[in-house]
Amino acid sequence: MSNNKKNVLSAIQPTGDIHLGNYLGAVKNWVRLQEMYNCTYGVVDYHAMTMPYKAKNLRENTWKMIFQLLACGVKAENLFIQSMIPEHAELCWILGNVCSYGELSRMTQFKDKTSQLKDTDKDAFISSGLFYYPVMQAADILIYHADFVPVGKDQEQHLELSRNIAQRFNHQFGKEYFTHPEPLYTESAKIMSLANPEKKMSKSLGEKHYVNIFGDEARIRKQVKSAVTDTGDSNGEMSTGVANLFALLKATGREAAHASLSIDFTEGNLKYSDLKHELAEGLVAMCQPIKERYTEINNNKKEYKNQIKQSSAEIRKVAAQTLREVKELTGIMNAK
Ligand code: TYM
Repeated sequence: MSNNKKNVLSAIQPTGDIHLGNYLGAVKNWVRLQEMYNCTYGVVDYHAMTMPYKAKNLRENTWKMIFQLLACGVKAENLFIQSMIPEHAELCWILGNVCSYGELSRMTQFKDKTSQLKDTDKDAFISSGLFYYPVMQAADILIYHADFVPVGKDQEQHLELSRNIAQRFNHQFGKEYFTHPEPLYTESAKIMSLANPEKKMSKSLGEKHYVNIFGDEARIRKQVKSAVTDTGDSNGEMSTGVANLFALLKATGREAAHASLSIDFTEGNLKYSDLKHELAEGLVAMCQPIKERYTEINNNKKEYKNQIKQSSAEIRKVAAQTLREVKELTGIMNAK
């Protein structure tokens, strides 16, 4: 990180396959930004412990996420696995002391996830890890002095908290030490579920709510075909469901089809089947090369695992340097 380029940091939880929301809201942008910035991207397995999970699946899911990110075009040298860099957890502890209980209590994602758990079981166990999670996210970001954080809109509040933490730390320890990270959004920063366009596309809603970009072609076509269009709020206005399909179509790069179908809509002639057909074609074409690369990567897993162990060790050097400086500033002992 010795050049003049700005720093970019982002991360994803290893909770299964990359879905269309992850890809179009974040990962596609991660790939693009690699040309312009110092980019560091993490698979955050510590974060994945905050919701119920099976230990026997976590390691496998972590590698799977790494392979899928590589297939999307993220460079191995920019990728790390969070648990291979324990400094994140140490910085998290330190930052927790410049973050108030009240701030964490206002995090809407904590409230959403809590109510999701309680919907399935009213006595569900809510871990304090889930509550503390945004501090860990701030540590992930600040440890690399990130200027920019490419994420979906759902992370907006967490980003704001990271900035507040940076500001409070700098104020309390009397030095403009941490950078104030800014979010970077794509045009499709909030992709909605095809089955319920009132809700954000997410794995936790269940299978039919997310499009797995590594899923088979027939499934993608079927999901698009059965996407909910009218949700009763039309009145000449574009419904949320249709707007979502248009946003997706644009994001697949089918500009011409998007333009002509938009005219059909304005003129009151839009056939949903045409929109869905174009979208299905666009998605299948977009996913095809990614899936091909994924197959290749899966045939060389060992080599890629070694590369990621190495890149995590390199990236760790940056994190360790930050932590040393933070310990100096905060009066905590450094081992050497
Ligand atoms: P996660 O793993 O839920 O999602 C990874 C990325 O995908 C984006 N995303 C979406 N974008 C648009 N539409 C959607 N429907 C959609 N669903 C997900 C997310 O905004 C995210 O950018 N807390 C983070 C992980 C994290 C992190 C970090 C992110 C941990 N530390 C540091 C940035 C920086 C999360 O749970 O993302």
